[in-house]
Amino acid sequence: MPATSEHIIECASDIFTRNLNRLPYEFTHSLAGNPLFELPRLVELAEHVATRNNPHLPGGDVYFNEGLIEAGEKPLRPDEPRTAAVDLIREIETRQAWIILKHVEREAGYREVLENCIRNILELSGRDLLRKIKWFEAILFITSPNRVTEYHLDREVSWILQIQGDKEIHLFDRADKDIVPDEELENYWTADNRAACYKPQYESRAMVYHMSPGTGVHIPINTPHWLRNKNNVSVTLNVNFQFHDQYWANLYKANYYLRRAGITPNSPGAHPVADRLKSLAFTAVKRVQQSMKGRPHIPPEAREQNKRIAQLAGLR
Ligand SMILES: [Fe+2]
Repeated sequence: MPATSEHIIECASDIFTRNLNRLPYEFTHSLAGNPLFELPRLVELAEHVATRNNPHLPGGDVYFNEGLIEAGEKPLRPDEPRTAAVDLIREIETRQAWIILKHVEREAGYREVLENCIRNILELSGRDLLRKIKWFEAILFITSPNRVTEYHLDREVSWILQIQGDKEIHLFDRADKDIVPDEELENYWTADNRAACYKPQYESRAMVYHMSPGTGVHIPINTPHWLRNKNNVSVTLNVNFQFHDQYWANLYKANYYLRRAGITPNSPGAHPVADRLKSLAFTAVKRVQQSMKGRPHIPPEAREQNKRIAQLAGLR
C-alpha cells in the first residue's frame, strides 16, 4: 500500500473516459513543487537508476542524447556510458541534452507517486480498466532549455505531467493515414522503433498544447508527437501502461510479413473478421515462440506492482 493516498491527477471524468486511448486531452496535477523532482534529487535518482544491477532493459534504464535537433531529425546515439547522464543532469541548464530515466517507480518515493497516479486514473476511468493492463511504468524526462524531442510513436498509453519548466507538445491524429501510413506502423511494431517519419507538410494539422508546471496531456498509443522546450529546464513525468491485448500490434506485425511476402494487406479496420483471424493467428505463433524461448510473460517486479495496485483499487 502507498505511504500516502495523495490525489495527483484532476480531469473532468467525461473527457477522461470518452477520450481515453482515443484522443489527446489536457488535465491538471499536483506534482509541481514536489521535492522528489528537484534537480539535486534527480541527480541522486539518476545515480541509482544508472547503476541498477538488474535493469529492465539490456542497455540499462538510463538513456540520453545531446545536440540541437528539429522535429524531423533523429538524434545521434551517444558513445559515452549511460552513467554520463548523471553529470549531464548537473549541467542540464547549459547542455543541449535529453535524458530519460526509466522505471523510476522502482525507487523509494516515486513508487508511491506512480501508484497514486494510477489510482486516480482508475477512479476516473473505472476499475475494470485494470484487468486489461499488463504493466505500469513511470519515466522521467529531463531536458535542456529549447531542446526539441524528435517526432516519434510510443506503444504505451501515457499521461505526461509537466513538473518544472515550460514546453509545447505537438500531437497528430493517429487515424490520419496521410500522417501515419499503415506501412509506417507495420515497420514500427515489427522492425524499427524509429520508423515514424515527420511530414512537415502536415504540421498545420497538429494539436498543440502549451504545458507549464501543474498541467498534463494524455497520449493514446501510436499518437505521433514531438515536443519543444521553452527557454528553461524541463522536468516531465510520464505515467504509462501497456495492455495485455496486443490485437492491433499483432495485426500490424502480421501485415508487415504479408507485405514482405509481396501481398498488399488490407488496412486494419476495413475487414474486422479477417483482422480478427489474422491477429489471432499471429498471437498463436508468438505464444509458441515465447514458450520455446522460456521467457517470462511479465517480469516479477511488474507482477508485484500489479498486485499492489489491484489491492489499492480494491480489486483483491
Ligand atoms: Fe513520447
